[in-house]
Amino acid sequence: MFKPIETSRLAIREFKETDLMTFYQYRKDEEVAKYQSWNPTNFLDTMKLLHAIIGTPFHFQKGRSTQLVVELSKTKEHIGDVYIGIDEFDSNKCYIGYTLARNYWGHGYGSEAVNLLLSYLFNQSEIKEVHALILPANKRSIHLIKKLGFISISGIEYCLYKPHYYNNRNNMEKSYP
Ligand SMILES: CC(C)(COP(=O)(O)OP(=O)(O)OC[C@H]1O[C@@H](n2cnc3c(N)ncnc32)[C@H](O)[C@@H]1OP(=O)(O)O)[C@@H](O)C(=O)NCCC(=O)NCCS
Repeated sequence: MFKPIETSRLAIREFKETDLMTFYQYRKDEEVAKYQSWNPTNFLDTMKLLHAIIGTPFHFQKGRSTQLVVELSKTKEHIGDVYIGIDEFDSNKCYIGYTLARNYWGHGYGSEAVNLLLSYLFNQSEIKEVHALILPANKRSIHLIKKLGFISISGIEYCLYKPHYYNNRNNMEKSYP
């Protein structure tokens, strides 16, 4: 059971059955899927994915993963999701992903959602390093992840270590009061 976490603008919570239509609306969008590891998803596959997410309780154990809803705090609109995948060999290391419906791009929601997720991972779990895999053409995502303190460690892999998160947070507090 994941206890929701929030800022004044955003919340991150578990998926529910009623998220299906909003989930499908952005999963089928070619622009949203353009730089992802998945292709635009049809309704049936989105439904199967949602059921798999809901039906698989998440634990911070090697190889486990989940997706969580990002919603607007005030209106409860479901605007996207974040992914957590624990490394297969090291339970202190995880991979993250993040996806927003196109209408919500460019308002700082992506950075804020990832920053909120990082705060959860580093303050409320045993995670010590967070990785993100980003294609070179995904400039928006690379800008976002570097702004949050991640460093490039190979062609597509970016990483943030726990001590660097705390150093960088002092700077971030200026932009995220
Ligand atoms: C990646 C994504 C989550 C970003 O969300 P967002 O809410 O638009 O992000 P933010 O507004 O917080 O930040 C985006 C930053 O990139 C900058 N940016 C936008 N387009 C850019 C471009 N072409 N090149 C460089 N930077 C760019 C913005 O100016 C902003 O920076 P700033 O905060 O310094 O002004 C969103 O675009 C998305 O869901 N994309 C599709 C899914 C995806 O690619 N996910 C990542 C997979 S690795």
